[in-house]
Amino acid sequence: MAATALKVEDIYKNFGSLEVLRGISLEAYEHDVISILGSSGSGKSTLLRCINLLETPTSGKVYVRGELIKMRELRSGERQAEDRKQVERIRSKLAMVFQQFNLWAHMTVLQNVMEAPVNVLNLPKAEARERAETLLQRVGMLEHKSYYPAHLSGGQMQRAAIARALAMEPDMLLFDEPTSALDPELVGEVLKVIRSLAEEGRTMLVVTHEMGFAREVSSRVIFLDEGLIVESGDPQQVFNSPESDRFREFLVGVFK
Ligand SMILES: Nc1ncnc2c1ncn2[C@@H]1O[C@H](COP(=O)(O)OP(=O)(O)OP(=O)(O)O)[C@@H](O)[C@H]1O
Ligand SMILES: [Mg+2]
Repeated sequence: MAATALKVEDIYKNFGSLEVLRGISLEAYEHDVISILGSSGSGKSTLLRCINLLETPTSGKVYVRGELIKMRELRSGERQAEDRKQVERIRSKLAMVFQQFNLWAHMTVLQNVMEAPVNVLNLPKAEARERAETLLQRVGMLEHKSYYPAHLSGGQMQRAAIARALAMEPDMLLFDEPTSALDPELVGEVLKVIRSLAEEGRTMLVVTHEMGFAREVSSRVIFLDEGLIVESGDPQQVFNSPESDRFREFLVGVFK
């Protein structure tokens, strides 16, 4: 049986009086590809942000490869991660790919991919360059390595952003709607890259509205509604015979 890559235990997240996550538990094994579905505002991004500690959960626990992320309570009642070093170490192992690519505009594609390995991992430049070029080849972007982001299409930017995430040799990839800012004709080229990462056995959490991808590529699908997981299971099972009314309604809306 595969080892546990990530365990989330009863996470709550409030923003003031707004309860965004209301008790989420989730376990991902190595090589799992979990698609996270849900309508806008259901808490999908917040869940990913709590996992890589861009947000601190109001309560609940996060374990990455069995290691509990330490949190402490402040006098205000808010919690914050206790150990900066632990957070940095763990975050460098959880690569996040956003909807809006977030490439550095003043750097070429190659520089973008080399940046963190050189500055965070202290990799020698020659080695970082070699790693970056291999990854750019992998995502079909080697020919564009000297381009600045402004001169790339959305699909090219996103493929470069994926190469940049891979350059840190993460244990796990977190994708937050990686194709939803793209023109329809560019979605396919990015999904193809993500699909190839799944086939290679990478552990991934993917927030997506691409139902074909969720159905064909993921090992598990979860559906969030108002901060709760209301449907979870094998993709064939959840798409063919959803148990919750909310997910059934969601599917009707999507396939309408
Ligand atoms: N930093 C924040 N401060 C206050 N409210 C927030 C914050 N981040 C998210 N929210 C609120 O939490 C709710 C869930 O947001 P979240 O971004 O997690 O939803 P989502 O499922 O990712 O939606 P979408 O599909 O539109 O991306 C929303 O009502 C949002 O306004
Ligand atoms: Mg979101």
